[in-house]
Amino acid sequence: MSEDSNKFISPSMNNKWSPDTWRSKKAKHIPKYADESELKNSLNKIKEYPPLVFAGEARSLKSRLSDVANGKAFLLQGGDCAESFADFHPDNIRDTFKVILQMAVVLTFGATCPIVKVGRIAGQFAKPRSQNTEIVKDVELESYKGDIINGIEFSKISREPDPDRLVQAYNQSASTLNLLRAFSQGGFANLHKIHQWNLSFVQGENAAKFKEISDRIDECLAFMSACGINDKNVRQLYETDFFTSHEALLLPYEEALTRIDSTNGKWYAVSAHMLWVGDRTRQTDGAHIEFVKGIGNPIGIKVGPTSSAEELLKIIDIINPDNIAGRVTLICRMGADKILQKLPEIIKKINNEGKKIVWTCDPMHGNTIKANSGYKTRPLNNIISEIQNFFNIHRSIGTYPGGVHLEMTGQDVTECMGGLQKITDEDLENRYHTYCDPRLNASQSLELAFLLAEFLKDDKFGSKISSNL
Ligand code: PEP
Ligand code: CO
Repeated sequence: MSEDSNKFISPSMNNKWSPDTWRSKKAKHIPKYADESELKNSLNKIKEYPPLVFAGEARSLKSRLSDVANGKAFLLQGGDCAESFADFHPDNIRDTFKVILQMAVVLTFGATCPIVKVGRIAGQFAKPRSQNTEIVKDVELESYKGDIINGIEFSKISREPDPDRLVQAYNQSASTLNLLRAFSQGGFANLHKIHQWNLSFVQGENAAKFKEISDRIDECLAFMSACGINDKNVRQLYETDFFTSHEALLLPYEEALTRIDSTNGKWYAVSAHMLWVGDRTRQTDGAHIEFVKGIGNPIGIKVGPTSSAEELLKIIDIINPDNIAGRVTLICRMGADKILQKLPEIIKKINNEGKKIVWTCDPMHGNTIKANSGYKTRPLNNIISEIQNFFNIHRSIGTYPGGVHLEMTGQDVTECMGGLQKITDEDLENRYHTYCDPRLNASQSLELAFLLAEFLKDDKFGSKISSNL
């Protein structure tokens, strides 16, 4: 945050938390806007807009996550790296939702474990970038920072942070969430429709395996119906719970969408059910930790290879002083090559302090490489290897591997290499559509779900995973 933009709402003068106290801390990765009054106009509009989610929903997610912390459920969090204005289309929302449903069914059925479904969707717009600027043919411009901030096109005007984009991102989030609510509660997620969830381009082994599970679920449903249990009297067969999340990066926007819940008088972020703090902004004395400490939502913290247990313990004490299960999710993203070296000590130290944590694995962000073709990609083998080691590490320590955090899409893209479709370096150019990081396509996501179901089943029912610890 620039000095100037800190000015228009001065942080409360006492030590008490309020949605603006982050302004007195060092805030990384927040853009400077050329016209502060335009920014203020946008924020003032958003402050008056309806909340996107209700505090009670965030509390219900927290309670579901406490089941995860206690080893009784599994968190499936996934969606785009960056949502975009250009790809805003009902089919894209539907297809991402479909794949998450499919993965959840595979996991629930395969591992007989309740799945908590959280999308990186309906607000995942702001991106922290390693480089603040980008140089193309000797022209240096501000990097693309997500559609809520600037445009991806490499031109001076497009790369200028534009306050109107905040309002557009809010509106897109609202209609995305509206459709997701309709899908999850209006009958689309009815288990009797399971055969309709498969996407036409998911073929071969993945489609066959999914059909097999769907057929077995059909049989179970027929049996249950004969016993008088059906979608008319059991809500879980007819609808599903689906939650939203995004990185709490653009704090002026998050501040404008932070409200007091009238039922308990506490502050909640109402831009999504769950927010997380990224690997680049998790400084204990920084603005982002200051912001999330005061909101009642479940909070994720990314844990990259530069994290230390001591630093994480400080963060945990700041944001969860009462050690409430479900409040903190540590999203570990070490990379397949570093996880064995870095993660065990972190888990052991935090576990020894008795902290109640949802441990999840983000196998995407530590496994990004540049392919020979020049595209940023992630080999599925490395993604799988990181997840497998994540499970193994928890098994050896006696803690619970509570979930995964994936960048994925329901579209038939070619962004990550490998999988049953055998996507190679040469294939990447065919359908490389991401606005930021490479995502798993629907087929790769489903493939991963089948593997995860095996890992989870082994975790619950005894060891089969090869241990390389
Ligand atoms: C992300 O999740 O998109 C991201 C930027 O992750 P990280 O903060 O872990 O790098
Ligand atoms: Co990303």
